[in-house]
Amino acid sequence: MKNKIILFLTITSLALKADEGMWMPQLIAALNITDMKKNGFKLSAEQIYSINKASMKDAVAIFGGGCTAEAISDKGLILTNHHCGYGSIASLSTVQNDYLKNGYWAMNNKEELYCKDLTVTFIKRIEDVTSKITENLKTSFSEIQRDSTIQSNIKLLERKTKEEYKYDTFIRGFFYGNEYYLFVTETFRDIRLVGTPPESIGKFGGETDNWVWPRHNADFSMFRIYANKENKPSEYNQENIPYKPAYSFPISLKGVEKGDFTMVYGFPGKTQEYLTSYAVDLLQNQQDPIRVELRAKRLSIMENDMKKNDTLRLMYANKYAGVANYYKKWSGEMLGLKKSNAIQKKQEFEQQFLNLVGSDGAKKDKYINLFAQFKKTYEEYAPLSKQYDYFTECLLGIDALRLASSFQPVFAELKKKQDGKENKFDQRFKETKPIIPFKNYNKETDRKLCTAMLEMFVNNIDKSLRAVYLDSLINVYNGNTQALTDFLYNNSSFIDNKKAELMYSDFEKNAQLYERDPMYLLATAVYKHYQKTVIPQINYYELQIAELQKEYMKGLRENVKDKKFYPDANGTLRVSYGKVADYKPRDGVEYLHYTTSDGLVEKNKTGLEDFYVKPRLIELFEKKDFGNYADKKGKLHIAFTGSNHTTGGNSGSPVINAKGELIGTNFDRNWEGTMSDISYNGNFCRNIVLDVRYTLWIVDKYAGAGYLLNEMKLVK
Ligand code: ARG
Ligand code: GLU
Repeated sequence: MKNKIILFLTITSLALKADEGMWMPQLIAALNITDMKKNGFKLSAEQIYSINKASMKDAVAIFGGGCTAEAISDKGLILTNHHCGYGSIASLSTVQNDYLKNGYWAMNNKEELYCKDLTVTFIKRIEDVTSKITENLKTSFSEIQRDSTIQSNIKLLERKTKEEYKYDTFIRGFFYGNEYYLFVTETFRDIRLVGTPPESIGKFGGETDNWVWPRHNADFSMFRIYANKENKPSEYNQENIPYKPAYSFPISLKGVEKGDFTMVYGFPGKTQEYLTSYAVDLLQNQQDPIRVELRAKRLSIMENDMKKNDTLRLMYANKYAGVANYYKKWSGEMLGLKKSNAIQKKQEFEQQFLNLVGSDGAKKDKYINLFAQFKKTYEEYAPLSKQYDYFTECLLGIDALRLASSFQPVFAELKKKQDGKENKFDQRFKETKPIIPFKNYNKETDRKLCTAMLEMFVNNIDKSLRAVYLDSLINVYNGNTQALTDFLYNNSSFIDNKKAELMYSDFEKNAQLYERDPMYLLATAVYKHYQKTVIPQINYYELQIAELQKEYMKGLRENVKDKKFYPDANGTLRVSYGKVADYKPRDGVEYLHYTTSDGLVEKNKTGLEDFYVKPRLIELFEKKDFGNYADKKGKLHIAFTGSNHTTGGNSGSPVINAKGELIGTNFDRNWEGTMSDISYNGNFCRNIVLDVRYTLWIVDKYAGAGYLLNEMKLVK
């Protein structure tokens, strides 16, 4: 009887929590469609993903480096977030034409602006290639042999399929290498900016509101994909014509109600839902705190200087936003893991898992042993992980160090040139030149960063673990990091506009001198030290951990029969489904599931800088000219929350209703739910969505670009 109770408990707590999961689109028909229909979805699995017919997947793309975008017209018009278009918009901007500040709207195709280096990639189809990738693996192989065989199998098959299919392809491992899938892709390179609201609207709320609900920013921008006459990708060309995608999303003007079915279709980057308690312990108690502490220091130094003048503010704006984004995310994650007793829950889960396989003695021993190996490996890995974090988040937080290190290939090529060998010196040297004068680097700000980072480094990284040259400098200056920093910054030619200019004029002649530059010496010493000592060990342990996770994952899937498993996010196309949902963040507090323009006005009235908008927006709100875009009571909705399981990379993803119509664009998660990358909880993990009606209102009434609506399929 006692056993039975345990078994019962086991199964309920191992079962998937409501709305959890990032599902592979090609497996929806087999795994999810029944459940989706039960939750209100009205279409078929084929309409989500099909390789024979046009389906939603033909309208969902990887945008730039790590976002999602969706086609919203058959003339190649795509919608993504403002923060996803940010880099391209910034690159197109000048002091005279500042599109970040003022926004931009093309009033016809000719006015659309080509974005250099921006790409948009669609998935043509997905194939299971597990057997091809693993066929020649022998059980006698060591971890390293297994890994290198798999890597070379992947490269070979990618090359072969590229030739055969005449498309680009890439292969990714799923379930920690228990499965492999091939993605056949098509990448477009002629992408043009169609429109963006000003930053004060697109990024309304700034860092104050980032990762926080309630939200009031119109985080969107629009681009158009151009193709050649055959509707195929082409480099930028005046003759190119708007791309005609096989599918584009109809747009609903009907709005959403609490409880409505929602689906997010996009490219989530990375989740780790199947970690053991040992890994979560390391993350919560070491990795997150170290990263957060180091970033907090950097941010406070940057912020102080950014307040001094506009030049410094613009110089550091983008860097600051990048550092701040994950600083805040990790802080929230840490709190969330602690509050939800994540480590303890993982421990209980592991015990339950052992109980579940417990009827079979040999099997139980196998997993007891597996957990013991996990424990030992993480214990050995932890100090290395700390060293690695102090390299990337501390030493590499010093811009000068990275700047100076970018000269390593220049010196290497120069050696070849001096030895009369074939070399690329001229090219490498030219590549470094555009950094002078430094655009996003201020020597005095960086000096402060360096002093602070070196101090934190000295206080936390043991002498024996430092690069010898760095340690000798620390000794020479008796641990006084200010004096050491001054020595570096007063004597280096690499990090001073005037000295660097001089250096560029006589670099070859005086190369020997420059190679002994103290900042350059420090940079090479630090990089070499990590490359030689820390990184190979990190790689070794990560391989061990990957192997253990693979075993564990296999064990979970084989033994927990009543649970459907989804693979962790890995930057590939996924579907998450859930519903429009509010939540209770803590005792006594309840959030609504949507916001309106009233809240924007309220925030604006506080007078805080992050809540500034151009007065015109407020004037338009006051006129209440919300037309078709308002709800039944005449309110203009701005954003809503859902229970969709999402992560970084899902930014810009289409959010779709039960009939497959676009209702919004995904752009963030709530503060209390940032731990969902490790442990999703359907009670309070929420994705934040820009209501498409606010997007359209901005395009139509604020920007006066209503002509764009003519090419969309609007459902009233
Ligand atoms: N938190 C969102 C994401 O992870 C938005 C980031 C951009 N916005 C910002 N204020 N930094 O990407
Ligand atoms: N803003 C994130 C992104 O750029 C999405 C928020 C999240 O991490 O869920 O992808």
